[in-house]
Amino acid sequence: MKIAIAGKGGVGKTTVAGTLARLYAAEGRPVLAIDADPSTNLGSAIGISPQQVMAIQPIAQMDDLIEERTGARPGSQAPFFKLNPRVDDLPETLSIEHEGVRLMVMGTVQRGGSGCVCPENIMLRSLVTHLLLHRQDVVILDMVAGIEHLGRATASSVDALIAIVEPGRRSIQMARRIRELAADIGIQRLYIVGNKVRTAQDEAFIVEQTGDLDLLGIIHHHDEILQADRQGRAIYDLGGEAVEEVRAIKEKLDSLLGGEE
Ligand SMILES: Nc1ncnc2c1ncn2[C@@H]1O[C@H](COP(=O)(O)OP(=O)(O)OP(=O)(O)O)[C@@H](O)[C@H]1O
Ligand SMILES: [Mg+2]
Repeated sequence: MKIAIAGKGGVGKTTVAGTLARLYAAEGRPVLAIDADPSTNLGSAIGISPQQVMAIQPIAQMDDLIEERTGARPGSQAPFFKLNPRVDDLPETLSIEHEGVRLMVMGTVQRGGSGCVCPENIMLRSLVTHLLLHRQDVVILDMVAGIEHLGRATASSVDALIAIVEPGRRSIQMARRIRELAADIGIQRLYIVGNKVRTAQDEAFIVEQTGDLDLLGIIHHHDEILQADRQGRAIYDLGGEAVEEVRAIKEKLDSLLGGEE
């Protein structure tokens, strides 16, 4: 099962991605969590210690590896490099395992942006494509705001794209934009999760504004989520209401996807 999580900056993508990863792993399923967010904090949301998280080198910065696989060193202006580097061994060698979740941190391409045809981008794209097309795991992709990283080739293997919204117009507009982008590349299933809901009015606002979209569930604003964030801990490890709300969302998703692998 492949789940991609998107939404406006700061809405809670990483929090939800990390908690979903832990919930699937707790069922004994192999889980691969992909941090494709430049702020690279999915590790903490999974429960990896701050020291270990700090020590992770994002794949986009592994110049030696990129050179070995593509034939060109990042920044070298090499005229030729491989467009299909070998990546199938990387999930095993470059991931960090924690409580049954394997984490891969992609990092960001500094030069030329995410669209540039450069060795580091080819490497990341090949890897994401491989993970989505060829892995049997539950794959959870924590994305940057939009979904520009997902190409047509991989879109069909994304079982569900979840757009997180908060009770504010801008995040809902962003979710609509994500839906358009998703439709363009052929992702059929877009679901909405409402997060940081404090009042009944907040919830009513989300329900009303997302009327034509599929709302998977609501997560309330919880002080313990903020606390966990400050302490660099996973909300899954704190337990409580917040985890139960994410669990309910996961169960709804599982039932909608009908236990697809
Ligand atoms: N339901 C919630 N209640 C309280 N705080 C929350 C909730 N969800 C997320 N937060 C807090 O909001 C902040 C942003 O959350 P998170 O990092 O998960 O968002 P994001 O969408 O991944 O952000 P970015 O776009 O920067 O990657 C964090 O400090 C997190 O602890
Ligand atoms: Mg994030």
